[in-house]
Amino acid sequence: MREIQVLLLGAFFLFIPLLARSGDTPPVPTTKVNVHSLGPERIGDLPPVPVPVNNPQTSKNILLGKQLYFDTRLSKDNTISCASCHSPDKGFSDAGPTSKGIKDQLGGRRSMPVINAAYNPLQFWDGRAESLEEQAKGPIQNPVEMGNTHENALKTLNSIPGYVDSFKQVFGSTPITIDQVAQAIAAFERTVVTTDSLFDRYVRGDEKSLTAQEKMGLEIFNGKGHCTACHWGGNFSDGRFHNLAVTQVGPLQVDKGRFDVTQDPEDLGKFRTMTVRDAALRAPYLHDGAEKTLEDLLEFYNRGGGKDPNLDPLMVPLGLFREEIQALAAFIKNALTSLNPEAAKVQPIPASNLPK
Ligand code: HEC
Ligand code: HEC
Repeated sequence: MREIQVLLLGAFFLFIPLLARSGDTPPVPTTKVNVHSLGPERIGDLPPVPVPVNNPQTSKNILLGKQLYFDTRLSKDNTISCASCHSPDKGFSDAGPTSKGIKDQLGGRRSMPVINAAYNPLQFWDGRAESLEEQAKGPIQNPVEMGNTHENALKTLNSIPGYVDSFKQVFGSTPITIDQVAQAIAAFERTVVTTDSLFDRYVRGDEKSLTAQEKMGLEIFNGKGHCTACHWGGNFSDGRFHNLAVTQVGPLQVDKGRFDVTQDPEDLGKFRTMTVRDAALRAPYLHDGAEKTLEDLLEFYNRGGGKDPNLDPLMVPLGLFREEIQALAAFIKNALTSLNPEAAKVQPIPASNLPK
């Protein structure tokens, strides 16, 4: 039933831009790709989270992962946890522009939201990790993030009886291994998903959940704004890599993005499409935090992105008027911010309640 509604919605939005285009509106810019054939029926609500068969979502596994996620003892000097850079009150990202790790060291890229990371085919801006499990092992031993070694982090965890007991209950064996740590954290991350927002309610048939301005924003997102060319699917991301010619303002002078992983010159300056869900919660934007506000980001898109020989052909000047940008911003801010408690109301675990 849900699929039918999504398809109907898609059909509906195919026609709306045609009807709504008035005489004095400039024509929709053309790109090499037919945006409408890619997009409309493919934005909708999220399917159930994909779960690997070897890491089932049990309540004990999820709770253990949540404890580890909020535990600074995974870092070398007890100062940094995953939540330091992926904080529930910052949309599961951080204040940015790029992340601060152990001993106030600055990383080269913006923290990505953990929210809906479970849906990414590849993790990180450059896609260098294939799963949440693989990803979770990285920060612990990244010298500018948690600055630890796996060996030392495991020594710490294996010396905390409360953890030894919980890991035994979840995985049935001791001592604790790094794969088990990663599995538990990933199980927690798979619960941090946005299944409810005003947009989702609209897709499910509640016409009144969006205001006229937000509906106009959705229409632009899906039409004149070309956003669905890359931001489609329930998570508003194609999971692919694109070069938007983002201004490099962070500590790195050059960031080659996806090229670092593939060494393919075609991939120079390409970064993975970010979800637009909950974007209002995590300014500044893009992989180096180059755009300070959502409005700045929308102006960037309106200009057709930056200048780069490898600029994605889908990036063209959009000719959006101010009211159209405001409508797009209203749609993103109000309609795409999650309302469900799993994403919007995750309570951090204070140090005093962590295993002893
Ligand atoms: C010092 C800050 C910092 C810490 C600590 C940190 N992260 Fe991150 N995280 C980042 C940054 C920055 C990125 C993007 C890095 C890149 O793409 O090169 C990232 C990326 C990710 C992603 C990828 C999301 C996506 O959309 O692809 C996940 C998932 C994630 N982190 C989870 C974790 C977990 C779990 C921990 C704890 C074990 C952790 N992070 C600790 C800063 C941090
Ligand atoms: C050519 C593909 C493409 C198009 C078209 C596109 N985006 Fe993006 N979007 C991306 C990629 C790739 C990123 C991450 C780029 C980076 O940081 O280098 C991104 C990032 C974003 C972010 C930032 C999220 C964050 O947390 O930093 C938002 C919000 C966003 N896009 C909204 C939009 C809107 C609104 C439109 C239409 C006006 C649009 N996008 C059009 C590919 C695209």
